[in-house]
Amino acid sequence: MAQPLMTVQQHILEEQRRRAPQASGEFSWLLSGITLATKIIADRVRRAGLADILGSAGQQNVQGEVVQKLDVLANQALLHCLGVRGNVAIMASEENAEPIVVARDRAHGKHVVVFDPLDGSSNIDVNVSVGTIFSILRCEPDPTGTRDPMKDVLQPGANQVAAGYVVYGSSTMFVYTAGNGVNGFTLDPQIGAYVISHPNIRMPRQGSIYSVNEANADSFPEGYRRYLAHLRSGAAGRTYSSRYIGSLVADFHRTLLKGGVFLYPPTKTHPQGKLRLMYEANPIAFLAEEAGGLATDGARRIRDIQPTSLHQRTPLVVGSPAEMELLESVVSSQ
Ligand code: AHG
Ligand code: MN
Ligand code: MN
Repeated sequence: MAQPLMTVQQHILEEQRRRAPQASGEFSWLLSGITLATKIIADRVRRAGLADILGSAGQQNVQGEVVQKLDVLANQALLHCLGVRGNVAIMASEENAEPIVVARDRAHGKHVVVFDPLDGSSNIDVNVSVGTIFSILRCEPDPTGTRDPMKDVLQPGANQVAAGYVVYGSSTMFVYTAGNGVNGFTLDPQIGAYVISHPNIRMPRQGSIYSVNEANADSFPEGYRRYLAHLRSGAAGRTYSSRYIGSLVADFHRTLLKGGVFLYPPTKTHPQGKLRLMYEANPIAFLAEEAGGLATDGARRIRDIQPTSLHQRTPLVVGSPAEMELLESVVSSQ
């Protein structure tokens, strides 16, 4: 082997040893719950078309199991893998109306994990990339179970201790930050491990792609329309192309590696924006900032927003410093 194999588990443990030698290793144990769940999800995603065919007769597959939608399966995988870790106090998912308290971990649980189990689910049926997004916050253990779990969940993105995503694309990649830069790992299907492939990811200072659902453009606030016209005009010193997948994870993954900007502004049908603050915008914003980019709701830094509900929506603009500075100057110029 030309280079030593560095798995995500090794990487997390080594980073911990370097930065917090007194750490208990609990955190890497928690993250390994997430990587395990995403391997299960990756396997289901890879067989999605097949499961559908096999399940078409009476909604049962060959094993006689009821075929379930992938976002339900993905949610179950995460709830199961995280719920037995021993240090997760609360789990909050896009697929569950309320946060779930892990009763057996009441005395020890110090972490809140918030996640979007399957992002971009409308792309499943057409074999286009989907993802999983997660955000990790800390909380005090609550041995007597007297605290309101919602209070522990509703923390601003600035409090995140780690965040990341998995993109189930042409390969499966795990990208995460624990506040010391962003690292990317590719799932090696031969050995079933995430192996480092993109160490210390930095977002380019400027890109040449903007990513937005342009079909909504007529109902964007005026500032956003001006901004997009400015990018198209060449005044930003670049000729821009547009790319829009419709899976936030995949659209952001491209933005992280190539630079440029992704935006989901307020629209007529979604006046508060469409994306969810706690399990879409916050983790993406943390990753973007750790890679040298920026993320706002058009006015405020995403990570400064105090959430008031678990499923609250927000406009999101995230990208390279050059495009983000331009947004600010174009929006404030009139
Ligand atoms: P989810 O599949 O988790 O509900 O997420 C949906 C998303 C997000 O991935 C994407 O950026 C956005 O919805 C796309 O929305 P439009 O189809 O309105 O462009
Ligand atoms: Mn989503
Ligand atoms: Mn989802």
